[in-house]
Amino acid sequence: MSGSNAGLAGVVAGETAVSTVGKSGAGLTYRGYAIEDLAVRAGYEECAHLLIHGALPAPGELAAYRRRLAAGRGLSAAARAMLKLLPASCHPMDVLRSACSFIGAETGADAGAAGAETGGDAAAPAGSDAIRAQADALLAVLPGALLYQRAFAQRREPLDTDSGADSLAAHFLHLLHGTGAARDDQVAALDAALVLYAEHEFNASTFTARVVASTRSDFHSAVTAAIGALRGPLHGGANEAAMALIARFRTPDEAEWAVLDMLARRELVMGFGHRVYRGGDPRSPLAQRWAQRLVTTAEQERHYAVAQRIEAVMRREKGLFPNLDFYSALLFHNCGIPTPLFTPVFVISRLAGWAAHFIEQCEHNRIIRPTADYTGPPPRPLPRAPAGAAAE
Ligand code: COA
Repeated sequence: MSGSNAGLAGVVAGETAVSTVGKSGAGLTYRGYAIEDLAVRAGYEECAHLLIHGALPAPGELAAYRRRLAAGRGLSAAARAMLKLLPASCHPMDVLRSACSFIGAETGADAGAAGAETGGDAAAPAGSDAIRAQADALLAVLPGALLYQRAFAQRREPLDTDSGADSLAAHFLHLLHGTGAARDDQVAALDAALVLYAEHEFNASTFTARVVASTRSDFHSAVTAAIGALRGPLHGGANEAAMALIARFRTPDEAEWAVLDMLARRELVMGFGHRVYRGGDPRSPLAQRWAQRLVTTAEQERHYAVAQRIEAVMRREKGLFPNLDFYSALLFHNCGIPTPLFTPVFVISRLAGWAAHFIEQCEHNRIIRPTADYTGPPPRPLPRAPAGAAAE
């Protein structure tokens, strides 16, 4: 498609009270709170509560919310069995997509047992409070599902998903590295990254979730579809591609020559550019600061120097700036997170935003069904009688 609406660029496709992205005078806000404040003064659970439940937790409510999420980390025996059946070599995004769909089936089966008497559709969307409960439950269980499959695929060991950690960031790093193995600054950095990734208006995966919601489908179907959309390298997959790029170079000079070469061949440099932000992604400096603070080894120092040079070349040559995915890749790497888990971490964080949009869509719903300009052949007769047509 080459028309002016290609990629729906600049098209206002609906209304939202969840966030502003690059709006003049507001920048990036979640329900009115600036990302710069949230990333420094709030943790992920506060943001998740803000997005899923509509308000920051009241004093005393945060600890209860954290306890509720921590209590939901256990996987059912059926979910554990399903995760063990996945091919050991599958991508962690396959694991999340499958886990979400399976947990949806379990949730639907629970609802179906109650709904059968009224003849209701077990998969149909529940009321807003029930969706909020489903979102919290999924947020609680997904990190464990992801890392349970990984532990089983790599070591044939069942993983205890009850880490005892009080935050999602600590929980994730404890399951990945073992209890107590992550440094405090790594937990804090991952927590900040989860805040930065939690919500971003009508991006491709959130819009996907809203389209699914608009058909009055169920929450888990919407999240499963959104995971599929997020996976692509033009969207969430960019952080994995950015890390692979940075890790390729031994020196900043080598990176500069290679990036110039890529640009000459009109290749995309992952982690740069953005559909909405034209003057800079406000999340990038926040991720960059954490990526730099976490540097402790010579390899990490080299990565950071390479990344800075790539940033300078992209700015000089194309006027493009890093988006969140570029320095987040280093932040995740410096937390000891393996590259194939970068996009799954994005999924876990963005679940809060998807839930907020799913609920908003359901509460003000009209099915999303645009139209298209037709560019195919004009009406024409079939060249011969269609197969199966009665002979004269
Ligand atoms: N590397 C090289 N060139 C890029 C680029 C990148 N990362 N991003 C954009 N450009 C180029 C485009 O090819 C285009 O060039 P052209 O005019 O010669 O055709 C020009 O810059 C303008 O592109 P734009 O209209 O801004 O892109 P878009 O809005 O259609 O797409 C992205 C936005 C984010 C998909 C795009 O910038 C991209 O693919 N970035 C890399 C993937 C990525 O980091 N995704 C994560 C997004 S948060």
